[in-house]
Amino acid sequence: MHSLIGQPLDALDTPALLLDLDVIDANLKRLRQAGADRGVNVRVHFKSLKCGGLARYIASRGLPTFLCAKLNEAEVLAGAGVADILIANQVVGPHKMGRLADLARRVQLRVCVDHPDNIDQLSRAMSGAGATLGVLVEVDLGMARCGVEPGDPALALAQRIQRSPGLRFDGLQGYDGHLQMLPDKAEQRAKSVGGLEQLVATRRLIDKAGIPVPIVTGAGTGTWEYTAGFPGVTEIQPGSFVLMDCVYRQHRPEFGCALSILCTVISVRPRWYTLDAGSKAISKDFGMPEVKGFGDEKVTRLSEEHTKVECEPPPVKIGDRREVLPAHCCATMNLHRQAAAIRNGKVEAVWPIEASGRYD
Ligand SMILES: Cc1ncc(COP(=O)(O)O)c(C=O)c1O
Repeated sequence: MHSLIGQPLDALDTPALLLDLDVIDANLKRLRQAGADRGVNVRVHFKSLKCGGLARYIASRGLPTFLCAKLNEAEVLAGAGVADILIANQVVGPHKMGRLADLARRVQLRVCVDHPDNIDQLSRAMSGAGATLGVLVEVDLGMARCGVEPGDPALALAQRIQRSPGLRFDGLQGYDGHLQMLPDKAEQRAKSVGGLEQLVATRRLIDKAGIPVPIVTGAGTGTWEYTAGFPGVTEIQPGSFVLMDCVYRQHRPEFGCALSILCTVISVRPRWYTLDAGSKAISKDFGMPEVKGFGDEKVTRLSEEHTKVECEPPPVKIGDRREVLPAHCCATMNLHRQAAAIRNGKVEAVWPIEASGRYD
C-alpha cells in the first residue's frame, strides 16, 4: 500500500478507510485555538483514532497530549512517540500491572481510579517495580458508569493516593458522557455546568485539605464549549471532533466529517444499488451511514458485507464508487487495519491502525 503514496483515490482497492487531512486540520485548528483563547489544555481521546500515525500527525499540529480508554492504546501512543498519556479509565488486575509499570517508566503516564482496592493494587505494583504513576480520581457527574460521588468520597481517595508509595495524586476527571448528544442545547449547557460546579467544588475541598489538584479534566466533543474555560477546569478531553461522523455532526456542526469508507457499486437494481462494504467495515451501532455528497441516495440496510442504497433510478453503474460517512467514527476505526490519509484527492500517507480490534 506504501506505493500508493501520491496516487489518486482510483488507485485504492475498496473498501478503503479514508481520512481527509484538510478536514482534520480544520477540526484540530478549531479546538487548538479555542483551547489557547480559553486557557485550557486540549487532550485528544485516542479511543476515537487507534492509529499511531494519526496521533503523530495531531501532535505535529500542536496537540501533543492524549488520553485513551485502554492500556493497549496507551502502548500504541507511546510507540508513536507521545510522551504525555492519560488512561481515562480504571486499570485493574494482576495481568496488567507489569505492562502499566513498564509504560510508567517510559512516559508521563496517568490512570483514573474510583476504589481503594484499585489504589492499593496500583501502589504495590508501581512501588515494587520502582515506577511512579500519576493518578486521577474519577468523579461521577451523572453518567453512572465509573467514578465516585463528588465531594467527600473523592477527597478520601485523593488522601489515600497521597499516602500510597509509587503513586502521585494528579487531580480529578469528571466526564459527562450522558450529555454528549442531548439535542436541546440549553438543557445540555445547564446540565453540563451543573456537573462542572460539582467537579470544581470537589477540587476546592481537596485543595482545602492541603492536597494540590494540578489537573481537572472532563468533556467530550458534545460538551467541549461549556467545559473549556470553566473556572477551575484545566483540560478538556474530546476525541470524536478529529474525525467526526454523520450522527455527531448533527449535534456539533462546527466540526467536519473527515472519515469515510470508499466503496464500489457491485449491484444495480431499478430502485436501489449495493456497495461492497457492510457492517464489518462500517459500524452500525449508532445507525445508518450516509452517502457523502449524495443526499438523495439513502442507506437503508447494512448487512455484513453489503450496503443497500435506495434511490430511483440509481444514478450509478457497476464499478462506480461512493464514499460513505459512518454513523460512529470510533467504532468504525476499530474495524480497519489501515487508513489512507488523503489530501486534494491524493494519498498522502498510509497508516496502520495498530489498536483496532484490541480490547486489552
Ligand atoms: C472518559 C471519556 N472522556 C472523553 C470522551 C469523549 O469522547 P467524544 O469526544 O468522542 O465524545 C469519552 C468518550 O467515550 C470518554 O469515555
